[in-house]
Amino acid sequence: MSGESVSKDPKDALSKGPQDTPRAADDLVVLSGVNKHFGALHVLQDIDLTITRGEVVVVIGPSGSGKSTLCRTINRLESIDSGTITIDGKPLPQEGKELARLRSDVGMVFQSFNLFSHKTVLENVMLGQIKVRKTEKKAAEEKARALLDRVGVGTQADKYPAQLSGGQQQRVAIARALAMDPKVMLFDEPTSALDPEMINEVLEVMQQLARDGMTMVVVTHEMGFARSAANRVVFMADGKIVEQASPEEFFSNPRSDRAKDFLSKILHH
Ligand SMILES: Nc1ncnc2c1ncn2[C@@H]1O[C@H](COP(=O)(O)OP(=O)(O)OP(=O)(O)O)[C@@H](O)[C@H]1O
Ligand SMILES: [Mg+2]
Repeated sequence: MSGESVSKDPKDALSKGPQDTPRAADDLVVLSGVNKHFGALHVLQDIDLTITRGEVVVVIGPSGSGKSTLCRTINRLESIDSGTITIDGKPLPQEGKELARLRSDVGMVFQSFNLFSHKTVLENVMLGQIKVRKTEKKAAEEKARALLDRVGVGTQADKYPAQLSGGQQQRVAIARALAMDPKVMLFDEPTSALDPEMINEVLEVMQQLARDGMTMVVVTHEMGFARSAANRVVFMADGKIVEQASPEEFFSNPRSDRAKDFLSKILHH
């Protein structure tokens, strides 16, 4: 936990060492030289990625390229073999209370909603606040109700997850993540398991979050969302970041053959 990878050089604190580029105070998530293996598979290869505060980064790429693994390393659901990951200037700790706290700074929404089926919608959104953030029950309930309203499911608060549609459940999952006041939200294909008519209601909530200034990393096949909400598109293939650019630039003028090939496949159906 000593974080030997963290520079204690006082120049860094001033963010303007003479020889290196200034480290912007706005860098929120910084991956540097990150490598990860699953046995013989080198699933993340020398990943360098900086996400600034308020930025919306869409990650795309072929199946198996490492997108989910990348997300999972950012909140340490997966460990890494080498490199560093910092959230708001702090390296991710290995384990313990500090990890639980830092992890709660990173909200995560998965393809499957992972709500507690035996708890009501309201309880699902209150739970983390009470257990991790140590919020009083009354305050947790007020906040949960406000968040459920914000994502458009306020009237569903007393139901159980199975009584909601997929789109509603996913919006509850977003509210639950937001209840922890995360610094960054990670979305891993949040609409992939939804019936088509429910995709937009979830994307609209995400669009609104982006407009409200939330820092977001979004793995998605929804290119419309990428075009309209992303500040940057990161294209991954075979465990590497192959290219990254603004959506306009990436979609109109992909540079690598891998990206051209990928886009020709997904944009034609
Ligand atoms: N826990 C694991 N153990 C072993 N291999 C894994 C594990 N998780 C993922 N992998 C492998 O790592 C590679 C990257 O997987 P990952 O889920 O990150 O890809 P992805 O880009 O999210 O793909 P998809 O678009 O299909 O979701 C794949 O080859 C996958 O089989
Ligand atoms: Mg995936």
